[in-house]
Amino acid sequence: LTGFLNGRFAPLADLQISVLDRGFLFGDGIYEAIPVYNRHPLRLTEHLRRLAASLAAINMPNPYGAEEWAVWIQQLIDQQRFVDQSVYLQITRGPAFPRNHAFPAVTEPTVFMFADELLPPTSEAVANGVAAVSSDDIRWQRCNIKAISLLANVLLKQQAVDAGVAETILFRDGLLIEGASSNILVVKEGVLLAPPPSHLMLTGITYDLVIELARQHNMPLEIRPISEATVRLADEIWLTSSSKEVLAVVSLDGQTVGSGQPGPLYQAMYGYFQVFKN
Ligand code: PDD
Repeated sequence: LTGFLNGRFAPLADLQISVLDRGFLFGDGIYEAIPVYNRHPLRLTEHLRRLAASLAAINMPNPYGAEEWAVWIQQLIDQQRFVDQSVYLQITRGPAFPRNHAFPAVTEPTVFMFADELLPPTSEAVANGVAAVSSDDIRWQRCNIKAISLLANVLLKQQAVDAGVAETILFRDGLLIEGASSNILVVKEGVLLAPPPSHLMLTGITYDLVIELARQHNMPLEIRPISEATVRLADEIWLTSSSKEVLAVVSLDGQTVGSGQPGPLYQAMYGYFQVFKN
């Protein structure tokens, strides 16, 4: 696998960074994960826009313009052997000494990328859906920043793994927020409900795309706060992310969701998504 570090491509095993990197010491950095189908990044403009917003939110300059990013990313993609890929990209505030929480006076960012094979959800997961558990959202109040400091998300995701399910759905103050590494939408009485973007959630590129596809196909849609009770009584629950596309959640905390099978709106949306990505 070929990686990219600070303007240079090399085998991943040959790329090295300083142990003083603020990404390593403080989790001081941001990232993106971009799905690639047939060597073509999906919604690249939107991913690069969110990257720029994350950098601005942590007071870091963007090391490259959008066009430059697009060239680097395509070069990375073209050097892999898989046609469907997941590009991971992260930028940290770089190495600094002595260790000090405050921003260093002079910084040289560390820009790192690699691509790996994108494994779309199995046909079994698409056909039968997946299970989830729920948890109180223990994260901070700037979840709109795609920050590499993911300890809370890691602990929350492990709850799902320990329970033998696919995702942990997060509630804060009685409202649906998102999943540990995905966005969550629900269907009630034929209407697709999506939680409104805020500083408490990461607005997924897939979430935006699903909303766009719902509008295009005249699927009834409401973007509004969703109570925990509404989720538990939902006819359908969907999970969206760059690696999982759109999946139906058919069990939550051991309780059956709707019919217990992926619902009709899910099946329609899955179809729209497959057409769009190709
Ligand atoms: N995670 N919310 C959180 C907390 C996420 O980590 C992700 C994605 C999403 C969905 O965003 P998108 O549709 O842009 O992938 C929502 C990625 C896949 C990751 O961390 O690898």
